[in-house]
Amino acid sequence: MILDGQSSQAIAAAAQALQRGELVGLPTETVYGLAADAGNDAAVAKIFEAKGRPANHPLIVHVASAHGVARFASHVPDFAQKLIDAFWPGPLTLILPRRPDLAAVAAGGQNSVGLRCPSHPTAHAVLQSAETLGVLGVAAPSANLFGRVSPTTAAHVAGEFGEGLLIIDGGACDVGIESTIVDCTRGEPILLRPGVLTAEQLSQACGMTVITPTKPQADAPRASGTLDSHYAPHATVRLMTAVQMQQALANAPVARERVAVWARSSVQVPAAWAKQLICHPMSADPRQCAHDLFAQLRDFDAQGITQIWVETPPEGVDWDGVRDRLTRAATPAG
Ligand code: TXA
Ligand code: MG
Repeated sequence: MILDGQSSQAIAAAAQALQRGELVGLPTETVYGLAADAGNDAAVAKIFEAKGRPANHPLIVHVASAHGVARFASHVPDFAQKLIDAFWPGPLTLILPRRPDLAAVAAGGQNSVGLRCPSHPTAHAVLQSAETLGVLGVAAPSANLFGRVSPTTAAHVAGEFGEGLLIIDGGACDVGIESTIVDCTRGEPILLRPGVLTAEQLSQACGMTVITPTKPQADAPRASGTLDSHYAPHATVRLMTAVQMQQALANAPVARERVAVWARSSVQVPAAWAKQLICHPMSADPRQCAHDLFAQLRDFDAQGITQIWVETPPEGVDWDGVRDRLTRAATPAG
């Protein structure tokens, strides 16, 4: 069932469902989440089962306000507090040392916990209402099957899990890609997943250089979003420069391939390709591109496209979040 997130009945229904230990499709400013009471192990187990996600991949716990941090985290370093002050509510998740007695299943057994306070008004209203019912934190991964493209509309969530799930419709997500994740458990801030907040902005706000690991550290906590192949549509994604696209178009099309070109540059389409190729403009603004990204990949899938040629994002930290998602979408599974 999809309920309009602007109605107070929908907010109450979502909060009550969470309290009863049920799953809820919840809008946030980044992507839609598949939510459950973080303190209810059986409810959290339903998330792992519904997504087909390994139970040792930790979930983010969402809180209604910064007051929620002390419930789950045993220690908040100064630099982490500065990040909270600067960016919450908003698209930033902090990994903090976990109170041993809380949210162990949601945290996938790690001794840390990922915490985030979303800014979407509907998410905020649901979290606040659930809190009054005793639900102190809400575990929510992106509401997609494991490894697939994250949902940015209520209809996407219904497409993944069916309408048997209670889904709260909060409109299309503003940000469009998942939160930036900063590990705050190692004495200095370490960027685990890029998002629309850049390492530069984060460093400036917390007064320390946010480290951007070039390759995953062996002892780093498990993070699904950091697997090489993730966020993949059904179609094959290829990252190409405009020149590479033009060169590929100089060859004859392969029968039955249906190609989408998603590019900032203009590409000349030879007549031989006319029936098999669609061109879709990509925004030159990284924020807009992040906003469009997952919905666009899903839309190409829905059109029966078999190959998506995406123009390689420009250099520069502003594009880190989009580049990260596209690179993973373009990496074959296995
Ligand atoms: O924007 C978002 O963050 C969305 C919305 C729904 O809030 N959520 C989201 O959740 O993207 P998910 O589960 O798809 O990705 C959460 C990421 C995973 O890569 C997970 O491994 C990592 O956060 N994570 C969570 N807790 C962690 C922990 N204790 N240590 C290390 N990584 C953690
Ligand atoms: Mg995800």
